[in-house]
Amino acid sequence: MSNPYFDEIETAMASSPSLDGRPAELVHLTNTNGMTVSFMDIGATWLSCSLPVSGRREVLLRAASMQEHLRQEAYLGAVVGRYANRIAGSRFEINGVEYQVDANEKANSLHGGSAGFDKKRWTIESKSAQSVTFSLYSWDGEQGYPGNLNVTVTYTLTDTNAVKIDYQADVDKDCPVNLTNHAYFNLAGESAVEDCRQHFLQMHGLYYLPTSQDMLPVGGFQAVDNSGFDFISEKQIARDFLQDEDQKTASGYDHAFVLDALITDGDQVAAKVVSPQRDVVMTMSTTMPAVQLYTGNFLQGIKGKSRIYPNQAGLALETQYLPDGPNHPSWGDKCGILRAGQQYQHQTTYKFEY
Ligand code: GLA
Repeated sequence: MSNPYFDEIETAMASSPSLDGRPAELVHLTNTNGMTVSFMDIGATWLSCSLPVSGRREVLLRAASMQEHLRQEAYLGAVVGRYANRIAGSRFEINGVEYQVDANEKANSLHGGSAGFDKKRWTIESKSAQSVTFSLYSWDGEQGYPGNLNVTVTYTLTDTNAVKIDYQADVDKDCPVNLTNHAYFNLAGESAVEDCRQHFLQMHGLYYLPTSQDMLPVGGFQAVDNSGFDFISEKQIARDFLQDEDQKTASGYDHAFVLDALITDGDQVAAKVVSPQRDVVMTMSTTMPAVQLYTGNFLQGIKGKSRIYPNQAGLALETQYLPDGPNHPSWGDKCGILRAGQQYQHQTTYKFEY
């Protein structure tokens, strides 16, 4: 059954070889309301999310082609691991042993290193009409991380217009594990003139982590009160954009927010994004303790589906453990250490109302 919308994505992403010389394999899901989502095995990437709004509205950013996907460094839609966000000095210590992981951002390690999970071909374990499961094996020592790690990520499109992402993992040596999805949303549409700054955001983030020039956390938890980081009540992102010093250091919002522990049960709404025209609402629920709000401050120049993206073309809400968690044992269960034999189990859901 041919669907022109899916055909276009197939042509863009699967008509030329991917990183291992073979074309990517894509999976497309549709729900009973006509919402569609598409994924590919490279990076277990979420490529497309279309809503039946004004005909059809694509609300995810993606690269124009496989070639462009491999060229961009924004992690568009990919699953990120083993450790999402940054690890200072690309080193950490567990059980008295020091580990050195791949440094891909100056001396630091970003999103799992230069050959992180976004660069891997995942196995499509199973798929059904409204769900797909990807798996990945990461060997002991890969990118410097200890332990044989098995990961599965399941995406489910529900008839309530939610995209549910289930993450599971286990490892045979204690290891930092922090898995997220790096989708960028523009609820006005992937090609819209409005960017993420015209969106409205509400978030149960009570604290954020100020960062250094290298985007590493410095100084610990900072209450959001009386700062541009306060999204407790809904506000337009543009309102305080680049107003405070911590944003100036980061060229915008690119910070971890600690979520109120009372709402991280996977069901309650942790964050809500509203389109500029208020015609689409996306809520986010998660079991993760934090979320990185990233306003796409370095997207400029990426050849996207409809055009060359400017900065702020979309925003990411990357649910995660805290950045550089392995080097901050005092952050307790927000550090992202998976113990050998323990089951890593997390869920993040993005639900759309239109
Ligand atoms: C994360 C980081 C950003 C940037 C993007 C990828 O969101 O926090 O600083 O590196 O990934 O471009």
